[in-house]
Amino acid sequence: PVVSVLELGGIKIAKDDVVRDDPTNNVPDTIFSKLGMQLHRRNQHPLGILKNEIYEYFDSNFSSKFDKFDDLCPLVSVKQNFDDVLVPADHVSRSYNDTYYVDSQTVLRCHTSAHQAELLRKGHSHFLVTGDVYRRDSIDSTHYPVFHQMEGFRVFSPDEWEASGSDATSFAAEDLKKCLEGLARHLFGAVEMRWIDTYFPFTNPSFELEIYFKEKWLEVLGCGVTEQEILRRNGRPDNVAWAFGLGLERLAMVLFDIPDIRLFWSTDERFISQFRSGQLGVKFKPFSKYPPCYKDMSFWINESFTENNLCELIRGVAGDLVEEVSLIDNFTNKKGMTSHCYRITYRSMERSLTDEEINDLQWNVREQVQSKLNVVLR
Ligand code: PHE
Repeated sequence: PVVSVLELGGIKIAKDDVVRDDPTNNVPDTIFSKLGMQLHRRNQHPLGILKNEIYEYFDSNFSSKFDKFDDLCPLVSVKQNFDDVLVPADHVSRSYNDTYYVDSQTVLRCHTSAHQAELLRKGHSHFLVTGDVYRRDSIDSTHYPVFHQMEGFRVFSPDEWEASGSDATSFAAEDLKKCLEGLARHLFGAVEMRWIDTYFPFTNPSFELEIYFKEKWLEVLGCGVTEQEILRRNGRPDNVAWAFGLGLERLAMVLFDIPDIRLFWSTDERFISQFRSGQLGVKFKPFSKYPPCYKDMSFWINESFTENNLCELIRGVAGDLVEEVSLIDNFTNKKGMTSHCYRITYRSMERSLTDEEINDLQWNVREQVQSKLNVVLR
């Protein structure tokens, strides 16, 4: 059944409000169909199990309770998503190529940081926000245009750092690192970890936490000491705070051995039935591995071509049957024309695909690439 009115965080939303054929809107049907799914609120789903396990860590290790939100509406204003967290006016994340715009002033949130300011203004000083976030991106086994994040935020008052003898920023940074190292140990056991300095518009200093897993350093979250400007604007001029944002799929893929991010959306009983509420780290047993099918496609690009647009078009045709899209050749001829060759990998997580079915998909992709992206197939 085609759902055309949704309730998102208590707000009723019609399909026509979110998907419109006008230049201020770039939300496709495939994205609309994911709104309201709320995988993170299903206690038997790996994302729900992981969310609950992180809740458990915060509930049992902190005397002050963290307020929890997991049903805030993913449609937010440009102000909430970007301005309120000090994202510069010219930052790439604001572009139509990276973010889904419902209209020029409304987006599908691209991070849970979009809720920091409003929750501060409402008086919360310890909180966790979990939700679906949306980003236009390329296609491979770890990228999907909808994924889930958890935001953590903690405000300190002057007496807390004054008693410690260190300055406010060092105090918050140290507390943050201790808290997140504890979380990583809670989820992964005794793992090697390292901190990498990085940049976010809303924190300073900013860090990434990496853990050593299966012979690789894996980035698990971004965090930092909240910019004073955010606290000042939202009624906490005399406080200091830390914030973190972690990607639930990223962690769940490692903890449950889930090899492809599309599986989180699977309704196949052979996937769903392997997970139980409260059981973190049950290893997923792949029910089968169906063969991949590769199709290459070359075309002359134009100025407006972007890989994100191509990937979205392919998802529109093939849905979750597309596993990866990768640029395998790229050259510019003497006339200055640039050619790209992409390899599309088709594979179902659930069944074998027939040649006929794949040829149909590829034919449709080629057709739409020409008609919608205005490129010239070679
Ligand atoms: N919002 C950041 C992201 O999505 C993560 C983050 C949250 C970083 C809070 C620092 C503090 O990448």
